[in-house]
Amino acid sequence: MQSVKKGSKDDLKDQINELRKELNAVILAHYYQEAEIQDIADFVGDSLELARKAKSTSADVIVFAGVNFMAETAKILNPDKLVLLPDLEAGCSLAEGCPANDFKAFREKYPDHLAITYINCSAEVKALSDIICTSSSAEKIINQIPIDKPILFSPDRNLGRYLSQKTGREMLLWNGSCHVHESFSEQKIIDLRLKYPEAKLISHPECEEPILMFSHFIGSTSKLLSYVQEDSSVQYIVATEAGIIHQMKKAAPEKEFIPAPPENDVCSCNECPYMRLNTMEKLYLCMKNEYPSITMDEELRKKALIPIEKMLAMS
Ligand code: 13P
Ligand code: SF4
Repeated sequence: MQSVKKGSKDDLKDQINELRKELNAVILAHYYQEAEIQDIADFVGDSLELARKAKSTSADVIVFAGVNFMAETAKILNPDKLVLLPDLEAGCSLAEGCPANDFKAFREKYPDHLAITYINCSAEVKALSDIICTSSSAEKIINQIPIDKPILFSPDRNLGRYLSQKTGREMLLWNGSCHVHESFSEQKIIDLRLKYPEAKLISHPECEEPILMFSHFIGSTSKLLSYVQEDSSVQYIVATEAGIIHQMKKAAPEKEFIPAPPENDVCSCNECPYMRLNTMEKLYLCMKNEYPSITMDEELRKKALIPIEKMLAMS
């Protein structure tokens, strides 16, 4: 792989800024990106907000600092724009755990069910779904489905179970999960709560049930961020990917944020290994080389667009 000329970090930022102007590019970043990438982005948000930004941007080039399914969504919404992803290997354990052929068979087994699918899936799975949702929009979408219509929810069983409880809807769940959100140790979180009795536990709904059960607040990345700004507590144990803490500290510098610890002491399992494949250097290189970019078969794109448009209309 080509590398960047040695220089200071400021040089790299200057070069990214120059390329952003030259290309008329917008840099969109998810909260799970490293802090420097979040700081140089034009917009940082959760999956729904990023999809909305991708739809509304007037830039010619979208540089997506996130994972593959997010950049694919941007491409589905913008077939004529160049969509760059710093590292094409930036996948997602949920998307990988739901291959299109198996998902098609699942749908065929339950032909009368409506397929509501979490945005963390491939374009092929989106094309086979009725409505896409994100963690911030899922509850609202499910509540708009007629009560007698059975639902298949894929691919996150933890989010699906949580939504079933919230909405009172029984749903058939695909058996997938996020490796990062399943890495948190219940015992270590209990220990932390004993050590910091004033701290509130705030969790992403991709976490497992025992952690959600004793959380003070559950929400998407953006909702967790708003919560810590509005709530009166001063200490939080944060059970989601640790990248969000960068924005929490910026928004509420007087408060303390403690990352929920993973089971395994030696790994950084509370950092998404896919998200963290993106680096400032790769961000610069993808803008310089206008590569790697997302390409997609037009027929597939048109099919995948339908359930994404439904999500945007229903959210
Ligand atoms: P959000 O929609 O909350 O940003 O979640 C995205 C994600 O990948 C969570 O792991
Ligand atoms: Fe996928 Fe989990 Fe990473 Fe989110 S944190 S992108 S769900 S692997």
